[in-house]
Amino acid sequence: MNDLVNTAKRLLLVAACALVDADGRVLLAQRPPGKQLAGLWEFPGGKVEPGETPEQCIIRELHEEIGIETEIPCLAPLTFASHSYDDFHLLMPLFVCRRFRGIAQPREGQALKWVRPKQMRDYPMPPADAPLIPFLIDLL
Ligand code: C5P
Repeated sequence: MNDLVNTAKRLLLVAACALVDADGRVLLAQRPPGKQLAGLWEFPGGKVEPGETPEQCIIRELHEEIGIETEIPCLAPLTFASHSYDDFHLLMPLFVCRRFRGIAQPREGQALKWVRPKQMRDYPMPPADAPLIPFLIDLL
């Protein structure tokens, strides 16, 4: 069963962000060894902590994971991913951010790659993230 009303599964809220550079490339991060879905490429982000908004979560995660600084007005909501994993249902708002400071650095052992929107299809992604690609290709 794959809908939120009838599922008994835990609902996990994760926020993700497509960082877009001045050349229109998008930053992908590879999930490091030891993590669930290791080796797959995703949009930077993470779990929304209690008391946080998705925007605050993105600002914190970009800072912690890749040393990028941004502010709430620079985050434009684009769409949501919704995917039912075996043990939880994931709800994941995707933001787009074109205004940020810093140079992306892998602070948590992950590989980082700036890719052209259409090239994103060549990077294996978690099942929640992959359906977001057409939205980004349309936008960018
Ligand atoms: O990143 P983190 O491990 O905290 O995310 C929790 C879970 O959310 C992951 O194990 C994965 O199943 C899912 N996730 C996802 N796509 C992302 C980030 C997380 O499917 N971009």
